[in-house]
Amino acid sequence: MILGIVSAMQEELDLLLKDMTINEETKKANMTFYKGTLDNKDIIAVVCGIGKVNAAVCSQILISEFNVTSIINVGVAGGIGKDIYPGDVVVGTNLVQHDMDTTVFGDPHGQIPRLDTFDFKCDEALIKASLEACEEIKEINTFSGRIISGDQFISSVEKIQWFEKEFNAMACEMEGASIAQVCYLNNIPFVVIRSISDNANNGAHMDYEKFIPIAVRNSTILLKNIIRKL
Ligand code: ADE
Repeated sequence: MILGIVSAMQEELDLLLKDMTINEETKKANMTFYKGTLDNKDIIAVVCGIGKVNAAVCSQILISEFNVTSIINVGVAGGIGKDIYPGDVVVGTNLVQHDMDTTVFGDPHGQIPRLDTFDFKCDEALIKASLEACEEIKEINTFSGRIISGDQFISSVEKIQWFEKEFNAMACEMEGASIAQVCYLNNIPFVVIRSISDNANNGAHMDYEKFIPIAVRNSTILLKNIIRKL
């Protein structure tokens, strides 16, 4: 097993990198790929940059050039719904790109035209390991469900209400569904683990700055426990 771990921002990966034994650093497409181990597992960890294009380029490099056999995307997200708070964690079960819109041709919002699936399903075994890892860490509140991605930082109550109604989603972010699509096209198992930094409402950008440290702390604790289980 070679596990690829992708985060969009350096601050989302730093705590994991601190604990990894890093043997090699390679730069490709302006991204640094850290090859190393944690808990005797071979890992390639990388900061891909923000947004779907960065995430897609990075995922394809991990698969084609570093031969990863599975990918975990970890980071922060905006929470959707009134019961989810900063610091809570969502284990993704499936991913959708909320900004894909060919509704004029009769497709539902989020459908990638002419693709044989609407959503991208996370790997059952990785979901199971993630949920077991969450179960053991009682102080972190965990949810599982759909995570949606788009090239937009969401800070609008109307928009999250629409997300809830249209997609029945638990969290929104900017990379997961792109990584999911690349994994789907290459038949590579993946899971997305996101901790909540804000509620994607008016003022989300201020909450985001405030809660990022606790969110990253929680997602990293869980990620390390997941890696232990693989
Ligand atoms: N990542 C963290 N918070 C987010 C938000 N509100 N919208 C999009 N991506 C996010």
